[in-house]
Order: sequence, then structure tokens, then C-alpha cells
Amino acid sequence: MQHLWEISTTECAGGKESILRRGNVYQIANGYMGYRGTLDESGPEEAVGITLAGLFDQVGAAWREPVNAPNGGFTRVAVDGAELAAPGPAVASHRQTLKFADALFERETVFMAGGKQVTLASSRFLSAARPNLGVIRFTVTCDQDADLTIRTGIDANIWDLNGPHLRGLAAGRRGDVLTVEGRTHEAGKPVAVAEVVTADLGAEDHLNEQNRSLRVFRLRARAGQPCTLVKYFAVFTGHDRVTAPIAAAVEAVQAARRLGYAGCLAQHDAEWQRRWARGDVVIAGDEAAQLALRYSILQLLMVAPVDGSANSIPARALSGQVYKGAVFWDTEMFMFPFFLHAYPEKAMELLRYRIRTLDGARRKAATEGPGYRGAFYAWESQDSGDDACTYFNIGDPITGRELRTHFRDKQVHISGDVAIALWEYFKVTGDDTLLVQGGAEVILECARFYYSYAHFKKDRGRFEILDVIGPDEYHERVNNNAFTNMVVRETFAIASATVEHLRQRHPAVLAALLEKIGIAGELAGFADAAARLYVPAPDGATGVIEQFDGYFKLRDATVEELRTKMVHPNEYLGAGQGLAVPTKIIKQADVVMMLNLFKARFPAAIKQANWQYYEPRTEHGSSLSACAYALVATEFGDLDFAYQYFLKTAQIDLLASYKVYVGTIFMGGSHPAANGGAWMTAVLGFGGVQVESDRVTINPRLYRKWQALEFGLEFKGDRFRIRITPAAVTLTPDRLNRGHPVFVIAGETVTCAPGEPVTVDVAEVANSKAS
Ligand code: BGC
Repeated sequence: MQHLWEISTTECAGGKESILRRGNVYQIANGYMGYRGTLDESGPEEAVGITLAGLFDQVGAAWREPVNAPNGGFTRVAVDGAELAAPGPAVASHRQTLKFADALFERETVFMAGGKQVTLASSRFLSAARPNLGVIRFTVTCDQDADLTIRTGIDANIWDLNGPHLRGLAAGRRGDVLTVEGRTHEAGKPVAVAEVVTADLGAEDHLNEQNRSLRVFRLRARAGQPCTLVKYFAVFTGHDRVTAPIAAAVEAVQAARRLGYAGCLAQHDAEWQRRWARGDVVIAGDEAAQLALRYSILQLLMVAPVDGSANSIPARALSGQVYKGAVFWDTEMFMFPFFLHAYPEKAMELLRYRIRTLDGARRKAATEGPGYRGAFYAWESQDSGDDACTYFNIGDPITGRELRTHFRDKQVHISGDVAIALWEYFKVTGDDTLLVQGGAEVILECARFYYSYAHFKKDRGRFEILDVIGPDEYHERVNNNAFTNMVVRETFAIASATVEHLRQRHPAVLAALLEKIGIAGELAGFADAAARLYVPAPDGATGVIEQFDGYFKLRDATVEELRTKMVHPNEYLGAGQGLAVPTKIIKQADVVMMLNLFKARFPAAIKQANWQYYEPRTEHGSSLSACAYALVATEFGDLDFAYQYFLKTAQIDLLASYKVYVGTIFMGGSHPAANGGAWMTAVLGFGGVQVESDRVTINPRLYRKWQALEFGLEFKGDRFRIRITPAAVTLTPDRLNRGHPVFVIAGETVTCAPGEPVTVDVAEVANSKAS
């Protein structure tokens, strides 16, 4: 089944767009940095990028974006004076592979140069055990004797969208270690790269040319004898807790060299084994689904933040600087569930990021609107939590004009999305550490923001949430968006529940918090708002929930109709003049997203009615849309449709089938929210898993092709392996578990003792119920 653990391609040419897409599909990452799937000899033209998590910089008035490190993985070879590079005319064959088991990138390219056949092969990984470290083994083999020149080192010519971000770049050498160091423009943060090589290739020269710090080997290669070098490179920045990044980088590569390639790889592999043991999902009987889902999970495991970093995952992960490296609601609503249920330490890290950026959210509330208070989280959040989203966030490709968008100032559901994730973490893990360590403060400040945002309609005796954008970004500045109102109401309820929990378990923490943010007098208001906040209800006759006030009065249209009216392929359908604005066409799941987020509160019939109403009116113009429709379809039993949209979400990055431009904005990169959506659809959707604070319910609805679905699940600090077949559900609790949690499987209640597997015959339960 090796083929379900790797992907490979023989393409290496195909123009800029293909190179960009391959760079995304074959990227590797370790939470600290991402390395695009480019080749050893690639440069900025091929969009080489070693994108650093959580380090941002702005040059002039251009967008702030994550910093790409100088490329310590650079190697170029010349044979008898002719330089080899792929793509290029000398390429005879090429294969590149991404191995899922340990996020290992491999390439093998055969060149014909002056009648000689030369093979370049390399294996590359970013250490999962030592996050600052990258390791590459590189081999050149000629079929005849030849003069080889191998130039390898650190290339500071890197792909930047809005750079260059490093000033004062200085190349240096400490013994046989090469270094390059620079500082970011804005904050003057140091970024240091060190590189060292082990090779048996004779003497080396050193050379600084064209912004590259290189070592040069000149040798006579013997026919058929591989010439191999192993490169170790390390990146340290001002964000690492070290006094001198450059010294730390030098030490890191020296230590790695002592360990050797095999030693580094063994540590890396051991860490990846631990990750897969927790995160893998097995789908028996459906190879396409298996491959796509595993690839999606790989993406999430690769970009999970480094422990202790309090970083989050940007909407385009670490695939480059696209989308400003910003963190959106994508993280809490789409990626977080995977981590929460399979790898809670990382879920905690993601939430720590929101706690760390609370002050930015406070600043936004204080400056964004009239009398806003509390925490209004950034729509596009970078390192400080201030909003990177601009008021004119999209350019019109037809006129070249900037379009006023209100993502930043009106997409207020973001604060509640954060509060809900914090509460979910507590509910599922039972661990209140985060609440005590800043999470409760976040929740209360989010509730405070909504209290300052809500309008109390005296004539109707209710609170309303006016002038917002819901998940559907094509309709701006709407009133009473069902999703938003529901999220706001939930936030008020969570605020009250948080206070109650602290009152019972941590009264001193509560007292200190209420004092610190002076909020005691506002708590009764939150409870009142939770009770009297209006949320659009299902229509009595049709069951359909109006997406926002007046939505039903908009003109009905089809997505095809709008497409035929487009005058430019990248035209944006929203903002003031967009084609979708006067119509019922929505960009992405909105009411359906709400039905998924609050799935326990709506019966299947309501889910079905809304799904059927909104699906034909959804453009699915966001990669976040498909999984919401897939998940809700599993709830009311349209498994064929659910499957179709499951594959769409699971394959988006594997097939690289997505919009690359929206308006004038370049959007290419990976889609971790869709990757998270794939996991959710498989486990929570088809697996029918629902985790409550006191139990886990499993109501499987396996897709008919699937012979078995198997996954890991963590609940209240205990680990389980769950295997679902059409006939039975088997729970295997880890023997180190401490709890005896309750599972309700297809209606049958079982208690799970550590190390004792339990099987429930699903068909039998269904039969006995029927009898
Ligand atoms: C979607 C947003 C999403 C953002 C980042 C937009 O196109 O409409 O919901 O948060 O992309 O993925």
C-alpha cells in the first residue's frame, strides 16, 4: 500500500503556473518553516521559498507578509562546464516524490549533457525533531568520466511577493560553516542561516557571488560512481529564544553533522511515527479517498505550530507569502477540530496564539468603530494581532481600481469563532489550563465586544446584530446574519459559563480577572443579551432560514448565469458592484455552515431543507465551502453528495485545482482549511462522531464504497483508536488511559476501560431497535 503513502510526478516543465503549483503540492514543512517543492538548483524564478512561521515584515507601503529565509538548500552542478538545471533543454527524465510517512521530498533528474548522462538525486527533510533544521542528501552520478563543479551553499536570492525583507545581508564563515544574516526592515529582527556540508569530494573553495555564499567543489567524477554530499542548514531568528541567532544556527548545523544524515533522519522519522499514530485515518476500499485524505492530514501535521511558539496556521499555511501569511477564522472553524480531536497539544498552541494576540484585538475594537469595546479579532491576523486586512483588499481586474471591501470592519463573527474554539477545547479535553491562562479573558473580552456592537431594539424587545458580513462575503453590510447572530449568542452564553466555571473551580482567578479588566458590572448584560438576542429561525412552512434580513427579496439567479456575464475571468463577484451582490448567489456555505457548527440544535429535516435551498445558490468560490455542504449532507443522509464534496475538499491541494487569482490578488498556495474540512467530513461526517462534554456519540454513516474507517480520537486526555465497518464499531482504548468514558454507539451506551477493546455490532443494534 506504499502508493497510498506518497505522490510523485515526472513533470518538471510547464511554465510558471505549473512550477508554482508543483511548489505547493510538493512542499514540506515542520511548523517552524515551509520549504516549497522546488529543486535544489531552483531560484526566485521558480518561486523557491523557505517561509518562516510567525515572522512578518513590511517594506514601504506594500503588504506586510511573512519573511522567507535565505535558501540554505541551494546546490547547482556543472558538467564539463555546462550548468544543469531543471526545467531545461538537457532534461531527459525527471521524477519528484513526496513521501507522506515522514514528509520527505525526493527528486531524481537525468540530464544529457555533451553526450554524457548525468543523474542528480536528492532527499530533503525539515526536521520534525529539531524545528530549525533542514537536511539534504545530494548525489551526482555520471555515466562517463566528467569534470564536475558543484556549487552549494546559501542563496539569498529568494522569492518575495513584497520584499526583499532582509537588509544588511552579510555572508560569513565560522570554520567550515557558511552563514548569511540579515535583519527585517520593520522590526530589525535578525534572521540567520547557517550551512555545513559533509562530503568526500576533495578540497573546496569559497565564493560569494550574486548574493550567494557558496562552497565550490571541482572534481573529476568517475563513470558510474556517485558523488555525494550531505547538507545541513539551520534558520534562527529574533523570535527564537536564543541570544545570538547566528551562533545558534552554527551550533545547530554542527550538532546535526555530528549526528549524521541517518541520525537526523531517525529522529525525524520517530517524531513522524508519533504524529501518524495519532492523526492517520484509514479508509479501506477507496484508494482515491484514502490518498487525498492522507495527503490532507499530512498538510496539517506538517504545519502544526512548534510547541511553545504560540503560533497559528495561516490560510495558505507555510506555502509562501500569499494572503499575507495571515491567520483567519479558517483556523478555529476548519483546522482546529482535527487538532482538538487527534492532537490536542497543537490545538492548545493554536489557541495560545489568540491569547497572545488579545491586545491586538483590543486595539482593533478601540479604533475600528464607534464605541466598540473588548476584543474584535483581526480578520487577517499576523504576529501582533493587529489587522492586516485593508479596507480596499481586492483590486478590480477590469478597471484596475481598488474595491472597498468590509472584511476587516464588518466580519465580526471572527471574535466569536475564537471564543467558541476556546470553549470547545475545554469541553473536549476537560482541561481548563487555557481558560485560566488567558482564555477566560479572551472570552469575556469577545462578549464585551459583542455587547458594544449589538443594538437593542426597544420596540421589539430584542438585541440585533446589524451591519455585518457573514461567511458569504458577496453580501456585505447585512443585518441579522443567521450565522453571525448565532455565534454572538453563543459567545454570550460561553462567557456566562466560563464565569460560572471559574467561580466554582478557580474563584481567586476569577476575582483577579474581573478586577483586571473591570468587567464584573457587565456580566448580567451578557446573560440578558444571550436570552434576548434575535436569531433568524427556520420558516414555519419551508424550514429555510433566511441568511440575513431581506435575503429572500434578492433576485434569484444561477451561478452559470453570473459566469456568462463576467467580463474578466478573475472578476470579483462581491464588493459594491459585483455581479452576485443584487442576487441570491452566495460565495460559500453560510446558513449551512451555521447548521454544521451548531449541528446538535437542528433536526435533520431543517438541515435538508436549507441545504437544498442554498446549495444551488452557492458558488463555492471559497475552499471553505465544500466541506460544510459535505458535512451537513451526511447529517440528513445524502451520502453520495457528501462524498462528492468530500473528495472536492480532500483533493484541492493534491490536484492543485483552485482559483489562483481573485480580482488582482494572487492567491495560489495551499488550503489547510480544506484539509481540515476533509478530516471533519471523514471522521465527524461519515464516521458520525460527536464529542460532548460528558460523552462521545458515534452514529456511523459510512459511504457505501468504504469497507472500514479507522482513526484516532482523544477525549479528556485519553486516547482511542476507533474502527468502523458497516457491521460494527470497535473502540480500542490505549492501555495508558486513566478514564472510563462513556461512548454511545448507534444508541448503545458502553463504558471504555483502559486497554480493553469494545465492539458494538451496529447492524444488531439497528435490528434490535426495530424489533
Ligand atoms: C473566504 C474566507 C476565508 C478566506 C481565507 C476567503 O475567500 O471567503 O471565508 O477566511 O478566504 O481562506
